[in-house]
This record gives sequence, C-alpha cells and structure tokens, in this order.
Amino acid sequence: MITLQEQAYAKLNLTLDVLGRRPDGYHELESVMQQITLCDDVEIDLETGEDWKLECDWPEIPTDSENLAWKAVGVFYKTLGKDPRGVTIRIAKRIPVQAGLGGGSADAAAVLRALNRHEGEPYSLWELAQLGAKVGSDVPFCVMGGTAIVKGRGEQVNPLTPMPQCFYCIARPDFSVSTPALFAEFDQQGSDWRPDTPGMLKALEEQDLLRAAGSVRNAMEPLVAQNHPEITVIRSIMEDCGALGTAMTGSGSAVFGVFDAFDMAAMASMQLMEKCKTYLSRNTD
Ligand code: C5P
Repeated sequence: MITLQEQAYAKLNLTLDVLGRRPDGYHELESVMQQITLCDDVEIDLETGEDWKLECDWPEIPTDSENLAWKAVGVFYKTLGKDPRGVTIRIAKRIPVQAGLGGGSADAAAVLRALNRHEGEPYSLWELAQLGAKVGSDVPFCVMGGTAIVKGRGEQVNPLTPMPQCFYCIARPDFSVSTPALFAEFDQQGSDWRPDTPGMLKALEEQDLLRAAGSVRNAMEPLVAQNHPEITVIRSIMEDCGALGTAMTGSGSAVFGVFDAFDMAAMASMQLMEKCKTYLSRNTD
C-alpha cells in the first residue's frame, strides 16, 4: 500500500461577477480568486486491495462517490487508463463547508496534485486544471492556486501578479446557501452591485493593497444579504476594526475582511466570535 499526503487550500473570491447564463445552464463568471492558508489535510492510500472508501471527521461531508475528492480520483485514473487497485481517502477538515471557500474543490484539487506527482507528472499543471473542470467549477483554480482571474464556467484560469501580503478575517455565519438556487435567483433579479474588475487588475499590477482591498466585491452578495442581514452586520464590524475592504466569498455564506495588520484582523475575529465561527488566514504565496 502507498500513502500520499497533500494540503488542500481554501479560496476567496476577491471579486465575483456573473456575466450571464450559458446555454449549458451554468453561468459565465469573471472572478479574481485568491488561494489562502486555511486548509484541510488529505491522505490517499492506493493499492489497498479493498473497496474504495472515504473517511472524514465531519459528519456532514459525504463519504461516497458524491464527494469531489472521490470523483477526482475516478476522473484522474479513468483519464490515465489505470486502476489504482483500491483507494482510501482520509480528509481532516478545517475549511467550513457550504461557505463559499471552495472546501470540497480544494480537497479534489489536492487529490489531483498528489496523484499526478505520484504517477510521475503525466499531466502539466494546466492539463490537471482542465481535468479538475470535470470534477467541479472551482477545482481548476484550486489546482493552479496563487492569485488568478477565472472566467468561463471556472475552467479558464489565468495567473495574476499576486495579491500583496495581507491578513484575512473570515466569518462564517450560521446558515448556508444553495449555490444553484442563488444562481437561479440571480437570473431573476440580476444585480447592480458589480465589481470593478479592471480596477482590481490594475491594483494588483501596481501592488497597491489599499486599492485592491477596496475593490473586493461580490455581485451575488445583495441577494444573500437581503434575506440574511448578518452579512451586512459582519462587514460593518470588520470595517470598524480597520478592514480595508470586505465582501462575501462565492455563493456565501462566509464573509472576509482584508487587513494590513494582523492585530486588526485578530480584533475583528474576537469581536465576531460570539456571532459566528471565525478564521484568520493569509495568502498561500
Ligand atoms: O460545478 P459545480 O458543481 O461546482 O457547480 C455547482 C452549481 O453552481 C451548479 O450546479 C450550477 O447550478 C452553479 N454554477 C453555475 N455557473 C458556474 C458555476 C456553478 O451556474 N459557473
């Protein structure tokens, strides 16, 4: 038996814009995404000689072929035309689920990276990201990591000059959002809360943290905030603690604040702790 280990890093959508609905039912996205240090630990046993299984310390996580990490093993070995002769996946979770932090996608991307390394890198990082698109829309970015602009369904990932070093306070209110339902609501209602993506790209190019942080925005946020005022409350508490910018990530419900000093991010985390779970994180690079 062989055991592989890999860390699975969460993502933030620094900006998220929805440009329209596609003929395949998915949505055309434009998002500046950032990989952060908040992570799960993933272990994969190969050649166990037993049925495939997945073990996770959080009961709400599916432990069958519904889990994106399981799907990723299937897609990888099917494409490679090989049989791993029995697989066990163990996931120690830290990334909150259904929070817009890409937890399941991060686990799948970690699986793809670990298997690719183990098999002698049959795929380039770019090819691996394209394999990831078969598993889930956020997987290609999670494979590539860093700071990137992501377009299409999520499969077009173009690396950017990294987000300047900063600290994130992430707050996860006690509700989750159905991603398909939120997209359907977006189709009905639209949004005039659009990010200034060119402004964000320029800020990154110029390594201007103040402007980059001030450009974080999520077009889907008002649709969530109209039913869940805690989103707005969390953002204003973060701003009172000195956040340079705040936004919801993905389809929520997590909200992040960007800080230039750790003690301010920690202060925001302490202020929010009574209301919700909080996490402190940084860019992975
Ligand atoms: O690809 P994934 O399974 O992560 O997507 C979850 C759901 O989010 C999809 O079923 C779809 O309803 C919605 N989605 C979308 N457009 C995207 C990505 C996701 O409509 N670009």
